[in-house]
Amino acid sequence: MGWWTDHVVPRITDKTCGLGEIHKLRSRACDGLTGDVLEIGFGSGLNATHYPAEVRRVLAVEPSDVGWRIAGPRIDAMRAPVVRAGLDGQRIDLESSSCDSALSTFTMCTIPDLDAALGELARVLRPGGTLHFVEHGRAPDDRVARWQDRLQPIQGRVAGGCHLNRSIQEYVERSRLRLTDIDTFYVAGPKPFGYCYLGRAVKD
Ligand SMILES: C[S@@+](CC[C@H](N)C(=O)[O-])C[C@H]1O[C@@H](n2cnc3c(N)ncnc32)[C@H](O)[C@@H]1O
Repeated sequence: MGWWTDHVVPRITDKTCGLGEIHKLRSRACDGLTGDVLEIGFGSGLNATHYPAEVRRVLAVEPSDVGWRIAGPRIDAMRAPVVRAGLDGQRIDLESSSCDSALSTFTMCTIPDLDAALGELARVLRPGGTLHFVEHGRAPDDRVARWQDRLQPIQGRVAGGCHLNRSIQEYVERSRLRLTDIDTFYVAGPKPFGYCYLGRAVKD
C-alpha cells in the first residue's frame, strides 16, 4: 500500500475534497482564524483561498510530499506566508502557546493517534486560542454507524488510514480544549461517508 498511499491517495483526496459543497464548509471552518495559524494535515492546500485577511502566517504540518507539491501554486497565491512546520500532528515541533489559532479539515479521521494530536494542539495554542475544525466521522444513526463499522477495514486501506467511524465530538470533548460550538449534519452523498462535525474549541 506504500505506493498507493504515497502517490495516489493525495491526488484522489485533492479531487474529492475540492468539490463545491466541501468548499462552503471550508469557508465556515476558516472564518475567524487570526494571527499565526497552525494547520494540521495541510494536504494539497485546499483551504488556501479561505484564510481570512487577519491571518499573519500559516504553520503547516503535512507528512505527504505529494500533497505539499500539489499545494505549491495555491500557497504561492496566498497573501499570508506558509511554512511547512512539521510532518506529524502527533508530535509538533513548535513552542508551547506559540499559535493564535489552529485548523483541521478532514484530517482528524486520518491521524493514527488523534488523542495525541489534540494534546499537541492544546499545547501549541496560546490561552484563548481556538481550534477550528470540520471533519467527517461517526454518524448518530445506528444503521449508518453499523455500515461505517463494516466499511472501515476497506476504507482504512484504500484511503490512507482514514477512519469513517470516529466520533470527532467525543475526541475533542475529552481533550484539554473546551468545545464551544458544534454543528453536525450529513453532506450530500452516501451517508457513511458524509456525516460531518463543524466546530470550535478553545484553550482556556
Ligand atoms: C483526507 S486528507 C485532508 C487534507 C486536507 N486537510 C484537506 O482538507 O483537504 C488527510 C490529511 O491528513 C494528513 N495526515 C495523515 N497523517 C497525519 C499526521 N500524523 N499528522 C498530520 N497530518 C496527517 C494526510 O497526509 C492528508 O493530507
